[in-house]
Amino acid sequence: MSNPVSNTDAAFLKRFSQLIGFLAVVAVGLGLLALYIHDSNPPAPNPDAQKVVAQRIAPVGGVYAGDTGRAAMQAAAEAASKAAAGAVAYDGTTDGKTIYDNLCHTCHTAGIAGAPKIGDKADWAARIAQGMDTLDQHAIAGFTGKTGVMPPKGGNPALSDEQMKATVAWMVEQSK
Ligand code: HEC
Repeated sequence: MSNPVSNTDAAFLKRFSQLIGFLAVVAVGLGLLALYIHDSNPPAPNPDAQKVVAQRIAPVGGVYAGDTGRAAMQAAAEAASKAAAGAVAYDGTTDGKTIYDNLCHTCHTAGIAGAPKIGDKADWAARIAQGMDTLDQHAIAGFTGKTGVMPPKGGNPALSDEQMKATVAWMVEQSK
């Protein structure tokens, strides 16, 4: 019976196992290199994790004195309330023209999207006839009529009802 592995097969198997062996050595070498690089460059600490640790090891009862005392808290509260006041639309003005010029004019000057044009008596006569209460109500709460959609407070919820009423009054005054 002849040997089923020919000479060329034997030569191939030898080369092939040498190649596999070589690649295995390269793989182990790359692994070691990666470990070395990882050790010499520790990853940046995760700020979220640091925050959590700081919270965990913080003293149970914080001390509020000096910089963290009552005066500082009051100053912070004052700053917060000032920032909140800034959220009042147009510094809280009740000057209808100012508010109109900043917001309502985008629709009401040119009559965009079916808005009654300011100063256009024909546009306004029937609306004014509804009475100021209805106009105010429609401007504040928003209103969908025959010609289009008037958004609540003209789209700026930071406007107060007083500011809206003043603006409606000013608009009506221009349109009588
Ligand atoms: C996005 C466009 C738009 C803006 C901005 C806008 N309006 Fe209007 N407004 C309309 C439209 C459209 C109508 C007409 C709705 C209808 O009658 O179908 C309307 C109608 C009105 C009316 C008449 C309501 C009635 O009962 O007939 C008043 C008053 C009014 N707006 C006030 C204001 C004021 C005050 C502002 C600014 C704070 C403002 N609008 C901003 C689109 C706008």
